[in-house]
Amino acid sequence: MDSKPRRMRVHHLRETKAAGERLTMLTAYDAVTARIFDDAGIDLLLVGDSIGNAMHGYSTTLPVTVDELVVAARAVAGAAQRALVVVDLPFGSYEAGPEQALATAVRMMKETGVAAVKLEGGTRVCAQVRALTDAGIPVFGHLGYTPQSEHLLGGPHVQGRGHSAADRLRADAVALAEAGAVAVVLEMVPAPVAAEVTQILSVPTIGIGAGAGCDGQVLVWVDMAGMSDWSPKFAKRYGEVGAALTAAAKAYADDVRAGTFPDVAHQFDA
Ligand code: KIV
Repeated sequence: MDSKPRRMRVHHLRETKAAGERLTMLTAYDAVTARIFDDAGIDLLLVGDSIGNAMHGYSTTLPVTVDELVVAARAVAGAAQRALVVVDLPFGSYEAGPEQALATAVRMMKETGVAAVKLEGGTRVCAQVRALTDAGIPVFGHLGYTPQSEHLLGGPHVQGRGHSAADRLRADAVALAEAGAVAVVLEMVPAPVAAEVTQILSVPTIGIGAGAGCDGQVLVWVDMAGMSDWSPKFAKRYGEVGAALTAAAKAYADDVRAGTFPDVAHQFDA
């Protein structure tokens, strides 16, 4: 944000959109990266269930548990000084209905210190969004490609192409906002459709593979920083952190093997 608040709060989301400024969001799964991204001025940190693919080596987000996200979210929320921290409700922890969603979200809020939760889906989860909002828990929606439904969707494909799919997406976005969602993530949505949804909603849209017309952008940090061999078409690499780590590990191993580390500067006198 240009007019930077000391701490990002939910009301800053709408204010940022109204001011025509863009929101920045990255995933974070631990205190180390949370501190770095917070210091860099990233507005929102998402403790995403992408932790499954990005950190734990799972092939989908489906196995990620509430317990795994509680540990990660506590670390991120504890480290962030300014950024607003959002945690995903993982697959299986909210779909059964408002009661299940409320129980999971209350646990997240009590045990982690995050400021908001995110869940996937449109009209089908509006009762959950309403229940959480009524309980004072800010909710981020997530439409378009929703990784928790990847088997139903047949993999990571663009969603909302064609008139009827775009109409459904627009209706879902409006329904989420009316149910109380404070922002809506749009993943892998055609840029013109995402731009139109952004125009319609008073709450911000945050795009990932949804073009430049959204109110903000989110990327999975390992994709953004060049930590994985593969990254999706929409994920621009802003660094080569993986290559830098490999070089550091090799240099360390070379020094140990050559007997040049530890040297006198890195040992204790008697
Ligand atoms: O889990 C996650 O990282 C996400 C982003 C891809 C938006 O939901």
